[in-house]
Amino acid sequence: MTPRIAPPRTGHRATFMPDAQVAVGLPGETVLDCARRAGVRIASVCGGRGLCRSCVIRVMEGSVDPPSAPDREFFSERELAENWRRACQTFLAGDCRIEVSMRALALPTRTHVASEDVWVRPDPAVRLCRADVPAPSRLSPLPDDRRLVSALNACWPGAVSRMDIEIQRTLSKALRPSGTVVAAVRFGEIIALNPPSGAPLPGLAVDLGTSNVGALLVDLRTGRTLERCGLENPQSVHGGDVISRIGYAISSPGAPGELRALALKAVNGAARSLCEAHGIYPEQIADIVIVGNTAMHHLLLGLPVSQLGRVPFVAAVCDAIDAKARDVGIKAMPGAYVHMLPNIAGFVGADHTAVLLAIASERESRTVIILDIGTNTEISLLHEGRLSSLSCPSGPAFEGGHVRCGMRSAPGAIESMEITADGATLRTIDDAPALGICGSGVLDIAAQLYLAGVVDASGRMLEGHPRVRIGKRHSEFVLSENREKPAGTVVFTQDDVRAVQLAKASIRSGITILLEDAGLREEQLDQVIIAGAFGNYLNLASAVAIGLLPPLPIDRFAQIGNAAAIGAKLALVSCPHRAEAQAIARRSRYVELAGSTRFKRAFMNAIRFPAREHTREIPAGAHP
Ligand code: FES
Repeated sequence: MTPRIAPPRTGHRATFMPDAQVAVGLPGETVLDCARRAGVRIASVCGGRGLCRSCVIRVMEGSVDPPSAPDREFFSERELAENWRRACQTFLAGDCRIEVSMRALALPTRTHVASEDVWVRPDPAVRLCRADVPAPSRLSPLPDDRRLVSALNACWPGAVSRMDIEIQRTLSKALRPSGTVVAAVRFGEIIALNPPSGAPLPGLAVDLGTSNVGALLVDLRTGRTLERCGLENPQSVHGGDVISRIGYAISSPGAPGELRALALKAVNGAARSLCEAHGIYPEQIADIVIVGNTAMHHLLLGLPVSQLGRVPFVAAVCDAIDAKARDVGIKAMPGAYVHMLPNIAGFVGADHTAVLLAIASERESRTVIILDIGTNTEISLLHEGRLSSLSCPSGPAFEGGHVRCGMRSAPGAIESMEITADGATLRTIDDAPALGICGSGVLDIAAQLYLAGVVDASGRMLEGHPRVRIGKRHSEFVLSENREKPAGTVVFTQDDVRAVQLAKASIRSGITILLEDAGLREEQLDQVIIAGAFGNYLNLASAVAIGLLPPLPIDRFAQIGNAAAIGAKLALVSCPHRAEAQAIARRSRYVELAGSTRFKRAFMNAIRFPAREHTREIPAGAHP
């Protein structure tokens, strides 16, 4: 579906409720664009391409263009009569007052950061070296830089060979009147002089995710995590998934710069709040490690991403990168560096390298599948010390996208459901009234509908259950009804079941391909490790029930949360781990699935839901 063509008019005022923020429409702008300029939050999972249903609004007063054909399909007659529309499909035709639906307004709460700490023997890239630098004299009129370097090397043999240009600019002042200096040295280069004494030597580890950004402030000298924080990636206004983000990046010449600025806003914002919490300044940060999927990595560094959107989906750069923080645009010590962990392939990024770094070394001798489920799911197989990796296109269903009532993990999102003899019991985030369904809820609802016989093994929703009704297009299961505002009713539709089938078949096929390549059967797996935010919350019983995961005993599954941030921390604190990350990325054999007939065959075999007895292995409700 392509965006609608804007009529050439402008100057209409839009007042967005509930906060009464006002914006004036520009030529060619949709209501969604107009809201973005005014800083009004409207969820836009597909980035405004008319492919999802996240940007629902109601025109309370004033006029907009007649509903688009897709919106006529999407909304019921009553909803259209009540002026419900999708913001990205709607143009102002006069001054308007617009209600943003609660689902579109909801702020995500599960910006998950690794809460558990991991300790590693500190061996950081940056060290502090102290030395007394003699004053110059007529007998020894050596310049400041040479006196500093030789004084440091006298105390720390071979420690220093050069210095950052910013240090050279401030050196003479720093050496006077006192001749004692403390230098922050990174691989022979002085990157700062006289950092505050007594303070930690702070480093920053960042997992720059498509949806969320997780960051840790770490003391490089002790390896201790000082602070942690998570926030929504501000690029989300341009789509919730990586494909939308790439699509936006290639939509106009200025778009990559805009996305880069938003990524920097996230990283610098996270650094600022971590430093504030610890009573220090971002300019004291001595070293930075950032991981992210290949698209996030490239956008942050200003590398091209258009090739990521075309077959064969190759990265511009895979090897690890060391760049000056100031050149990237991140606040830190004057000469500090950002180390970007290596990518494995176009859709197996540095975040997956970091996950492998966090878990692989202690499992080298085991047979392990490692998954990070998202719009693209990265899967690796570790077997007899060998690593193979692939990425499968699993779509946004497990992130609440492209599901009729899908939403981010925010208060009011249904995160689990149980069908009982009396009806259905819902659990929502923060026990708030049901607004929509987040990814873990999507998985759970599909499994419950299947296990209760509301959906058959082919995925067809059967009539007969009191909560099943015929919707605008197909059958739908009513989870929560809002009689006053029908658009607030939460349903799970036949199309949603199909979206789940496509997603789970893609992921399971990826597992199958890796096992086939290694000549293994599923039961030979010692462990299945599920990383990432969605993986942290998914219900294992439900995942096995629908065939997303193989039917193994529960003690062979592990849900490890944000292991990418842990991997970033390991690489920050320990140079040997940094080198190991590069070795992991290089030795991981990448399996390309684009155009693979084997993948298509495995995918078709995995579409149906498995026989119900497969759920016997895992008790219902098994959850971390
Ligand atoms: S349909 Fe409007 S943002 Fe996706």
